Amino acid sequence: METKKFIEKQIKEIKRTAGLEKAISALSGGVDSSTCTVLAARALGKQLRVIFIDDGLMRAGEPREVKAAFAKLGIKVEVLNYRKRFFAALKGKTDPEAKRRAFRNTFYKVFGKEVLKSKARFLIQGTIKADIIETRGGVKTQHNILEQIGIDPQSTYGYKMIEPLKTLFKHEVREVARAAGLPEKIYKRMPFPGPGLMTRVVGEVTPRRVALVRQATQIVEEEIAPLRPFQAFAVLLQDKGTGVEKGKRKFGEIIIVRSVESRDAMAARPTKVPWEILMKISKRLTLELPTVTRVAYELTSKPPATIEYI
Ligand code: XMP
Repeated sequence: METKKFIEKQIKEIKRTAGLEKAISALSGGVDSSTCTVLAARALGKQLRVIFIDDGLMRAGEPREVKAAFAKLGIKVEVLNYRKRFFAALKGKTDPEAKRRAFRNTFYKVFGKEVLKSKARFLIQGTIKADIIETRGGVKTQHNILEQIGIDPQSTYGYKMIEPLKTLFKHEVREVARAAGLPEKIYKRMPFPGPGLMTRVVGEVTPRRVALVRQATQIVEEEIAPLRPFQAFAVLLQDKGTGVEKGKRKFGEIIIVRSVESRDAMAARPTKVPWEILMKISKRLTLELPTVTRVAYELTSKPPATIEYI
């Protein structure tokens, strides 16, 4: 791929598709949506509105950090707080696909509302090749793949999609991000799924359970970061396990530590994390999160497992 040519071509294509109409970019702060937001901002200037939906499922400090990173690039990001709406949609749901459906429907309804409000006709989205392949292959219903699963965004939600990165794999997106001037912090960033921490909470997604996984993820990311894994995070299980505290038994929560190496997320293997780091993570998780009694390190490759837990 010739990165510069790709960028120029996509900028032209976005301009041609949108014409004089307004567009909205769905920024999550991940590599994919950040890259297409920069391309769209170059193509459309003031015709583009950049929205960051705070769904309550982001990592610690994320909305603030993303806003600041884009301000440095001269791109204004509006952070909209829709946390209650997402938690209401997820309430009581435990089935992984039911959770994915609820997230996706809420995401597009909220966006549809914002698109209508701003009279935008287009939604710019960072769908990449692996997302499309895996949704088509039935591995999962990715939140951002609509046409592929038979939903017409125009008749269902009232807007058309522009997906400038859909022919690229992750490592190619990173090249484009770098060439487009995004900071290293963003183009080298670990992939983070659109439905956020929801994919790491097995069972019901409640504000309390998400807060727990958020704190745990921060600890895992901090400790494993020096190894530069493809992705590292924490998962909260639905099951519990007995522990002891001050001589008394307590039935506590179980955190899985997951770290994987991969090129394009289509296949992955567990990171060989040194024992000392694993022990430090275990110690920190049980000390800093008092409801956690057990920590385990995940040893499964993809396939047969997926990277995320739902
Ligand atoms: P899995 O868990 O299917 O994940 O092996 C493969 C890669 O995709 C990310 N992922 C998602 N990204 N929306 C996204 O934008 C989603 O619904 C989604 N589900 C998983 C995951 O983090 C990994 O990098």
